[in-house]
Amino acid sequence: MGVQATNLVLALLVVAFISFRGAESRKARLLDSFEYSAINCRAHTASLTDFGGVGDGTTSNTKAFKDAIDHLSQFASDGGSQLFVPAGKWLTGSFSLTSHFTLYLHKDAVLLASQDMQEWPVMKPLPSYGRGRDAAAGRYSSLIFGTNLTDVIITGNNGTIDGQGAFWWQNFHKGKLKYTRPYLIEIMFSNSIQISNLTLLNSPSWNVHPVYSSDILVQGITIIAPITSPNTDGINPDSCTNTKIEDCYIVSGDDCVAVKSGWDEYGIAFGMPTKQLVIRRLTCISPYSATIALGSEMSGGIEDVRAEDITAIHTESGIRIKTAVGRGGYVKDIYVKRMTMHTMKWVFWMTGNYGSHADKNYDPNALPVIQGINYRDMVADNVTMAARLEGIAGDPFKEICISNVTIGMAPKAKKVPMDLHRYRGDDERGNSTTMWHATGPRA
Ligand SMILES: *[C@@H]1O[C@H](CO)[C@@H](O)[C@H](O)[C@H]1NC(C)=O
Ligand SMILES: *[C@@H]1O[C@H](CO)[C@@H](O)[C@H](O)[C@H]1NC(C)=O
Ligand SMILES: *[C@@H]1O[C@H](CO)[C@@H](O)[C@H](O)[C@H]1NC(C)=O
Ligand SMILES: *[C@@H]1O[C@H](CO)[C@@H](O)[C@H](O)[C@H]1NC(C)=O
Ligand SMILES: *[C@@H]1O[C@H](CO)[C@@H](O)[C@H](O)[C@H]1NC(C)=O
Ligand SMILES: *[C@@H]1O[C@H](CO)[C@@H](O)[C@H](O)[C@H]1NC(C)=O
Repeated sequence: MGVQATNLVLALLVVAFISFRGAESRKARLLDSFEYSAINCRAHTASLTDFGGVGDGTTSNTKAFKDAIDHLSQFASDGGSQLFVPAGKWLTGSFSLTSHFTLYLHKDAVLLASQDMQEWPVMKPLPSYGRGRDAAAGRYSSLIFGTNLTDVIITGNNGTIDGQGAFWWQNFHKGKLKYTRPYLIEIMFSNSIQISNLTLLNSPSWNVHPVYSSDILVQGITIIAPITSPNTDGINPDSCTNTKIEDCYIVSGDDCVAVKSGWDEYGIAFGMPTKQLVIRRLTCISPYSATIALGSEMSGGIEDVRAEDITAIHTESGIRIKTAVGRGGYVKDIYVKRMTMHTMKWVFWMTGNYGSHADKNYDPNALPVIQGINYRDMVADNVTMAARLEGIAGDPFKEICISNVTIGMAPKAKKVPMDLHRYRGDDERGNSTTMWHATGPRA
């Protein structure tokens, strides 16, 4: 067999705008700074069936969830409460959680997202985005929604939440949606949140979206959506502080983890970064997207991100930084180590001309700062191109350190294993111009 697998060893790559700085000492400091206080058991508990819930897969339980949670909310300052969802198929529209509260799904409980539009209240766009992402006017509230809460757990013995997304994907493709598709779980302006031990299927759009929140643990989540489904991102920490994502398995049509912090002038004005984020033991399959994406909405800044023990089985890219002129903000102090990757186009991908703006009013002088990006101890095989790094002219991406990375090229790999471009900073309004081009070591 004429398979020409090439082993390309990138041992501390330092090219032009790339330099090294003391990564290790910072890393140690980050490791110590994460603490997740135990969340108490709940003094009060109830079952969805106590509030008229019917688990037959066809009766709507939206009102049962509302009545149950309204009732249980009175115990917030009296030991908290738990709502138990027994085995069964529980059709429901969007419902909202309360504080000091656990939603617990039996292992054979399946929440089925309703396809009746009356069951999905419409909300204003997020302030850091300025508009809905699919449709400017607004957004359907997520299936499980919470805002201004503290101490919330959504868990189960691997119970299931099925978004029945095909309905939404088709309407999205046909341009029939008046508002932005709902997410499966969205928690805003909250703290002390755990989302654990659940299976999430076929989300209409993003799966788990903590936004403007802190002290979040996402653990033991299986997320599955067709690899061609639109925008079915796995977990999107967005303007959040102190988030830990652990032991998750994600197959999806978009980025497995997408770290965000608002869009262009809206994100800059809101000014809330995502920081202190740990991602560990993630397995990702997403042939058309990234294992971990930073951006493209990063206008509030992204900093102190540490990812380790990541497995990508078939993805378009390993780590991708996406940004554009007009974003402002920053992506800095990113540490990724111990990634194992099979079959991908670009292990490392940075895109400075991502485009896609909230509106035309973005500031062309708002340039993102990309700095302190550290990748080490990684192995990849069957790779088309090791790196594709495209910066922004006049706004160099700095302090990029790639070390101890072994990349096995695919039989049909590009002749140029690395492509380092810098573009003029005028993105889609002008023409991208390659300022310079360098190639890595040849096979
Ligand atoms: C939730 O908190 C945010 C930020 O503190 C505040 O602006 C908003 O009014 C609060 N919303 C509700 C419903 O209390
Ligand atoms: C949870 O369920 C999913 C889907 O059935 C399965 O793939 C996964 O292995 C289960 N996880 C655990 C920890 O049992
Ligand atoms: C998830 O389930 C595992 C195994 O049953 C358990 O050890 C772990 O504590 C659970 N995680 C959370 C955060 O509830
Ligand atoms: C290089 O990375 C591999 C894992 O990909 C690891 O086993 C090895 O210890 C690393 N070498 C050094 C010198 O850190
Ligand atoms: C290598 O990647 C190609 C796609 O680029 C895929 O078709 C092929 O099955 C992969 N080979 C292996 C051994 O995984
Ligand atoms: C982009 O390229 C086109 C065709 O080459 C040219 O007509 C146009 O003036 C260019 N625009 C800018 C902003 O450079």
